[in-house]
Amino acid sequence: MTHLSWGLKDRTVIITGGAGAIGRAVAEGFAEAGAKLAIVDLDQSACDRTATALGPAHQGFAANLRDIPALPGLVARIEASLGLPTVLVNVAGIILRNPDLLSITPEEWDAQHDVNLKAVFFLSQAVAARLIATGTPGSIVNYSSQGWMSGGYEGSVVYNATKGAVTTMTRGMARAWAPKGIRVNAVAPGLVETPMLVTPDTTPERLAQLASSIPLGRLAQPQDHVGATVFLASDMAAYMTGATLNVSGGFLMY
Ligand SMILES: NC(=O)c1ccc[n+]([C@@H]2O[C@H](COP(=O)([O-])OP(=O)(O)OC[C@H]3O[C@@H](n4cnc5c(N)ncnc54)[C@H](O)[C@@H]3O)[C@@H](O)[C@H]2O)c1
Repeated sequence: MTHLSWGLKDRTVIITGGAGAIGRAVAEGFAEAGAKLAIVDLDQSACDRTATALGPAHQGFAANLRDIPALPGLVARIEASLGLPTVLVNVAGIILRNPDLLSITPEEWDAQHDVNLKAVFFLSQAVAARLIATGTPGSIVNYSSQGWMSGGYEGSVVYNATKGAVTTMTRGMARAWAPKGIRVNAVAPGLVETPMLVTPDTTPERLAQLASSIPLGRLAQPQDHVGATVFLASDMAAYMTGATLNVSGGFLMY
């Protein structure tokens, strides 16, 4: 018996936010494990660039995930091109920082909830519908954030509300779809050195201060999330569902 096998060779893996910082890194990990990647992101040329860099087996699919009625069609397009997707990694996310709770608008609320939560549910629904209809097992990995526990800081109250909901929803989906052979888990990153965290007005002093708050002594890089994500999606985690893996360098321990 072989113990160490990802079981991802030739499987079709959808990665949303696949042209973003963490999405690209995670896509490389799945490609190394032999999967065929469907890179989903807003801009077709960015999706294509990422897919092309990974190799000829992979394809880019532009989509605005806020367009919920279009999601089953997106899954159908991916299935027609790359085969039935049996892994979905919901990485796409946005943050609209606003430290003044009194000025947060319903539009800010909706935008973050649409991408970070609603699209995660309805894209998962569209993929699960195909898996259930064909009697195929699969797995879903959702992107949460350490803020689901901490509540976050610096204007991220609404963002972290979406991430708390993603973590809770991950457990609910895991319980509901376990009898169908669909596992659902989550990754909760900490402070990652990507444009989401490092904005043009972030000073080097601020970055050093953030890094010093982390027990492992540095900010995360996108590639720090590859192992946890590929592991949860793979057969190596065949007996795991409903889990949230904390990838925060020890910033949060739970
Ligand atoms: N960077 C951090 O510090 C950090 C910390 C905790 C959690 N996270 C989570 O990790 C995930 C990836 O973050 P990142 O740092 O790589 O961010 P990023 O901005 O580099 O990537 C996010 C990607 O999502 C895409 N996207 C946004 N809205 C979309 C939409 N409507 N339709 C399709 N695609 C859309 C963007 O185009 C982008 O490519 C997010 O879910 C984020 O919330 C990040």
